[in-house]
Amino acid sequence: MTWAIAALVLSFCPAGLVVLPDRGELWVGDGDGSVKVINLFNNTILANITTGSKYRADEFAYDPNSGIVVVTNPNDKPPLVTALSANNRSVIGVFNFTDVPGELEQPAFNPSNGLFYVSVPESETNKGGEIRSLNLANFSTNAVYPLPPCVPAGIVFGANQDLFVSCSQKQILNYNLAAAFVLDMSNSGKVIANISGVGGSDQVVYDPEYHQCYLE
Ligand SMILES: *[C@@H]1O[C@H](CO)[C@@H](O)[C@H](O)[C@H]1NC(C)=O
Ligand SMILES: *[C@@H]1O[C@H](CO)[C@@H](O)[C@H](O)[C@H]1NC(C)=O
Ligand SMILES: *[C@@H]1O[C@H](CO)[C@@H](O)[C@H](O)[C@H]1NC(C)=O
Ligand SMILES: *[C@@H]1O[C@H](CO)[C@@H](O)[C@H](O)[C@H]1NC(C)=O
Ligand SMILES: *[C@@H]1O[C@H](CO)[C@@H](O)[C@H](O)[C@H]1NC(C)=O
Ligand SMILES: *[C@@H]1O[C@H](CO)[C@@H](O)[C@H](O)[C@H]1NC(C)=O
Repeated sequence: MTWAIAALVLSFCPAGLVVLPDRGELWVGDGDGSVKVINLFNNTILANITTGSKYRADEFAYDPNSGIVVVTNPNDKPPLVTALSANNRSVIGVFNFTDVPGELEQPAFNPSNGLFYVSVPESETNKGGEIRSLNLANFSTNAVYPLPPCVPAGIVFGANQDLFVSCSQKQILNYNLAAAFVLDMSNSGKVIANISGVGGSDQVVYDPEYHQCYLE
């Protein structure tokens, strides 16, 4: 199965991806802004969704309850997050990050409150980065959580609304510091752990069985 998928992936320019376990689907961002939906049981591309961006569709998060998938379009100026419906595979709406001069990083879904979050490496207000929660009702920012100097990349929820935040290589270059942080999103994003020495990473995943985070 792995080889068949690898052969499919080579036919386009893949970026980030996410598995939708309840649907048996793999959603893959493509370099031209489209999103490919792959059936994991027969390894076929079921859909090619146009996000509205000509640039890369990159990192994903998924809410199995609402069937909503969000994907970043980090290379648009300003960068975007597109919300898609897994039910009808069409665009629901677009978040436009007009106060973000650079790119966006990993999004994450919090099953405890039903909100999506996105990692913002740098905004006009928070040069060291921030986490933003998204309001899908009107495609605006729900809340902003400023970070200590981080220039964040990957974010992922662990247990108890603990958000693991990995910091990018720019943390080391800009602040001469290497640390990852854990925020308690049930308590206004309070920093509850500072894991020094862990820096310069990109995407992260969480294994709920062993309660471990893996950094790429
Ligand atoms: C693969 O499975 C999907 C979902 O059941 C189906 O719609 C599609 O036709 C199948 N494709 C092939 C080539 O069997
Ligand atoms: C997928 O959609 C993109 C964007 O609309 C388009 O440029 C591309 O040709 C499509 N690819 C396929 C295989 O249909
Ligand atoms: C697709 O489904 C979403 C809800 O999941 C809905 O908001 C949207 O209007 C639907 N779009 C189309 C084109 O049917
Ligand atoms: C995002 O906002 C900018 C500036 O207001 C605008 O030029 C651009 O068209 C918007 N993009 C989308 C996809 O809404
Ligand atoms: C979006 O809705 C929220 C309430 O859910 C409101 O506080 C906020 O002002 C709205 N934002 C915009 C840009 O309309
Ligand atoms: C995290 O720990 C590092 C190394 O001890 C320290 O330099 C930094 O100030 C700490 N940051 C926060 C927000 O606690």
